[in-house]
Amino acid sequence: MLRIDAVTAGYGHTTVLHDVTVVVPDGSVVAMLGPNGAGKTTLLRVASGLLVPWSGRLIVDGTDATGASPHRLRSLGVCLVPEGRGIFPSLTVRENLRLCCRAGQETSGLERARESFPVLGKRLEQIAGTMSGGEQQMLALARAYAGDARVVLLDEVSMGLAPKVVDEIFAFLARLAAEGISLLLVEQYVSKAMAIADYVCLLDRGALSFVGEPAELSESTILANYLGAEAVGA
Ligand SMILES: Nc1ncnc2c1ncn2[C@@H]1O[C@H](COP(=O)(O)OP(=O)(O)OP(=O)(O)O)[C@@H](O)[C@H]1O
Ligand SMILES: [Mg+2]
Repeated sequence: MLRIDAVTAGYGHTTVLHDVTVVVPDGSVVAMLGPNGAGKTTLLRVASGLLVPWSGRLIVDGTDATGASPHRLRSLGVCLVPEGRGIFPSLTVRENLRLCCRAGQETSGLERARESFPVLGKRLEQIAGTMSGGEQQMLALARAYAGDARVVLLDEVSMGLAPKVVDEIFAFLARLAAEGISLLLVEQYVSKAMAIADYVCLLDRGALSFVGEPAELSESTILANYLGAEAVGA
């Protein structure tokens, strides 16, 4: 279980997250929704060890991982698929996949990736940065899977992709969830995220305004919190 516990964090003199608690139980999907600038990416940065919180704690399976490096969190099974993909564009697909696998598990990791996205299997020797945007995103997702992550943090992985690729990516996420991998999912496709989520959190200006099950969340609440008051009036 991943627990972001009463976290306050920010940059310089600016506080972005105010006392935020988010729990991702084993095998569950938590959708984190909120308007631009609400602090969603910042929360994922805290959860992946890229940003150390000013107060509060990060707990992974009962272990206090506050202040742990991204590398250490990765070894605890927490993997971030960041905004803008986070692959190594100048390396080949094969090298990208190998780098995220645990020592000795490169072959099985590669096989898992190939099985999830067959297109990657056909492009193992291609320089990752020369693939299409959708293929690069598949590689970014496959890296989490190949690396045996137990909690995957996903920052708008469907952004800017064609509808068909978005469907493929959501099918992959549903499969990860079905295999018992936990997901903390930041998404612009609200309805697609809600469809696979066990829990939904709404983040508004760095504070949680709703935590519950998708069925408890009315459309008007989403509109008011997620799109902002202007969108409701529009
Ligand atoms: N490195 C940084 N230095 C200073 N301020 C930052 C930094 N990164 C983010 N911020 C600020 O923190 C706030 C929250 O940003 P964050 O990226 O977490 O929002 P978000 O919810 O992910 O937004 P979006 O939906 O646009 O991706 C914003 O006001 C942003 O300008
Ligand atoms: Mg963001």
